[in-house]
Amino acid sequence: MELSCKLFILVLLLPIAARCSTDSIFQECGKNFSISSNSLLQDNINNAIFGLLTKTALYGAATASYGVGTDTIYGLTRCRGDISREICSACILDATYKIRTICHFSAEARIWYEYCFLRYDSNNFLGFLDTRNTNVWYTSHIAADPVNFDQAVGRLLETVKVAAAAGDKKFGRGENFVYKSNITIYGMAQCTPDLQESTCNQCLDALLEVMTRNCKYHLGCYVISTSCVLRYEINDFLFRDIAPSPKA
Ligand SMILES: *[C@@H]1O[C@H](CO)[C@@H](O)[C@H](O)[C@H]1NC(C)=O
Ligand SMILES: *[C@@H]1O[C@H](CO)[C@@H](O)[C@H](O)[C@H]1NC(C)=O
Repeated sequence: MELSCKLFILVLLLPIAARCSTDSIFQECGKNFSISSNSLLQDNINNAIFGLLTKTALYGAATASYGVGTDTIYGLTRCRGDISREICSACILDATYKIRTICHFSAEARIWYEYCFLRYDSNNFLGFLDTRNTNVWYTSHIAADPVNFDQAVGRLLETVKVAAAAGDKKFGRGENFVYKSNITIYGMAQCTPDLQESTCNQCLDALLEVMTRNCKYHLGCYVISTSCVLRYEINDFLFRDIAPSPKA
């Protein structure tokens, strides 16, 4: 069901994406523990998650740790770079509820949404590259002019990758008009906020390889992993700019 929703996003237009956005795309729980033997860990998870929620509302992304010694919980949030602070906060709020429901008594959890990502772990992962849980979605449609299309996608993704790695929000976006086929390709790349430029580049290079293997000549492709995401489509799937609401 989640997959078909994602495919719809790629094939159809933005209103569908907005409708699907309240559902998570993917989630992973690990390192189950018994609450009776370790209630401190559960407290630290709750406190870390609460800290992330508060910090994300203020800054649009967050890293946090809570506790001492082996019961410490580390966490982070990432929001897609084109969305408003309000949508970001709402998305992380959904993520905190859902993760506590589905990853009950897990010392490690990750959840991906269209607009945001939340992760916590009892190991300190902050700053480290992690390409586990790489998932790919793509449209079944193939470009009418595959060679030109593929070159245009390659150039676009290189641009957004460099922008993401060097940028403050670790987010890069761009578009590329393919004159011969009269289509515009839209793309984005993003790493989690804890990564350095070089680690972010490494992460996106790994996803580029996944794309090349799975999506060559396809009109849309979306790859997610723990540390970064990469996507292109022929629909303008990103928000333009975060302008204040127009006056009546
Ligand atoms: C861990 O807990 C989750 C949710 O309670 C459960 O679905 C999963 O099977 C458990 N995994 C292991 C390895 O026990
Ligand atoms: C190119 O695409 C645009 C929008 O899809 C369309 O309005 C225009 O007529 C197209 N131009 C050509 C030459 O096909």
